[in-house]
Amino acid sequence: MKLAIASDHAGYELKKAVLEFLQSKKVDFIDFGCGPGETVDYVDYGAAAIRRVVSKECDRAILFCGTGLGMAIVANKFPGIIATPCWDEFTATVSRTHNNSNCLCLGGRVLAPELAIRIVEIWLEKEFEGGRHERRINKIIQLEAENFKKS
Ligand code: RB5
Repeated sequence: MKLAIASDHAGYELKKAVLEFLQSKKVDFIDFGCGPGETVDYVDYGAAAIRRVVSKECDRAILFCGTGLGMAIVANKFPGIIATPCWDEFTATVSRTHNNSNCLCLGGRVLAPELAIRIVEIWLEKEFEGGRHERRINKIIQLEAENFKKS
């Protein structure tokens, strides 16, 4: 599993804590920025990382901003991306088992590092359950095909 990672300034510190955890677990990732002390637009960094998931260079993404919301909005503009802000163990679990999330979005201004790491752990470990959830995801894919133009 190779992860595409990005943050803006508001997510930077939480990203640092999560990257240390990923390194300790030997999870492969590419960090697309931002770096320390920068003030940036989350849109640019989220898009840079999520493009690597769309191109299949990376399997999934974890994106960090102040709330997780801006990054999720950006990532969900890309085909095949199911970006889910998660804020506790339950949302982390169902984001995978029901929603088949391939992009986890975390808020540096709303989550303590310990909880964020637990969320990441769950999100990496849980599998999509399929079944009735697959039918629902297929309907979302159908909506995407109807509403998003391919360039
Ligand atoms: C940056 O100040 C903040 O707006 C951003 O990190 C994010 O929370 C947007 O959704």
